[in-house]
Amino acid sequence: MTVIMDGRALADKMQENLRKEVLNMKASGIVPGLAVLLVGEDPASQTYVRNKERSGEKIGIHSVVERLPAAISEEELFQKIQQYNQDEKIHGILVQLPLPKHIDEQRVLHGIDPKKDVDGFHPTNMGQLFIGDPWMVPCTPYGIMKLLEEYKIDISGKNAVIIGRSNIVGKPMAQLLLMSNATVTMAHSKTENLTQIAAKADILVVAIGRGHFVTKNFVKKGAVVIDVGMNRDADGKLIGDVDFDAVKEVAGYITPVPKGVGPMTITMLMEQTIANARKQLENT
Ligand code: GUN
Repeated sequence: MTVIMDGRALADKMQENLRKEVLNMKASGIVPGLAVLLVGEDPASQTYVRNKERSGEKIGIHSVVERLPAAISEEELFQKIQQYNQDEKIHGILVQLPLPKHIDEQRVLHGIDPKKDVDGFHPTNMGQLFIGDPWMVPCTPYGIMKLLEEYKIDISGKNAVIIGRSNIVGKPMAQLLLMSNATVTMAHSKTENLTQIAAKADILVVAIGRGHFVTKNFVKKGAVVIDVGMNRDADGKLIGDVDFDAVKEVAGYITPVPKGVGPMTITMLMEQTIANARKQLENT
């Protein structure tokens, strides 16, 4: 029997706990605050940001969403970030990616105060993660670790294969699995014999950004398959990087799209924002 890993259910459970925690914090005079900066009108980014806004409201976080024109200069965006770095009501800052081509993404991410970098993308946070002493962790891989924990997946000593090497998912995912003592293989679009490598995985994480890229022959019987993909098919339907219907015949555990990894990403964003606000409370 294949287990469908229900990210929606775990996210709801965690968000309910966060909502209660925010209520308690409010009683102590602190409202966790999150600033989200969205540049331009990329439809997928707009949806992600709307979902973050909605979850923030549900949990009781003070969220500020700045919708900025695609033509904004790098300098102006940088100034906006500085403003939130200094704002005591804001405990988390997120710049939705991707940014328009004329803006240097790394320079912008460098501008976020690492202590407010709830996405974990600042080089300081990336560095902390890679030396094994994380401060803030990129939300998607962090959410995946929580899902693996919820379903009591054995990680230590297992073969984990990650398809996709982005800074947002693939690289931090590899490090988190490594910290849990997996034997990690990073695969990507240029990997030779990708199918055979994937088929050795006990845990297969797919974040390559191609709809239904992973088919049945990529997956070992009983493997745990985590699908990070968010693609649209020809009819505009949301589909993952994994051909769910075919792969669920062989996988032991599998995440669906939607309602798998996506809700967990948002939950971890909320969790890290609230944790930052709690630190402020502890320091006063
Ligand atoms: N774009 C796609 N995923 C993410 C994410 O987790 N954070 C941000 N800031 N942008 C993204």
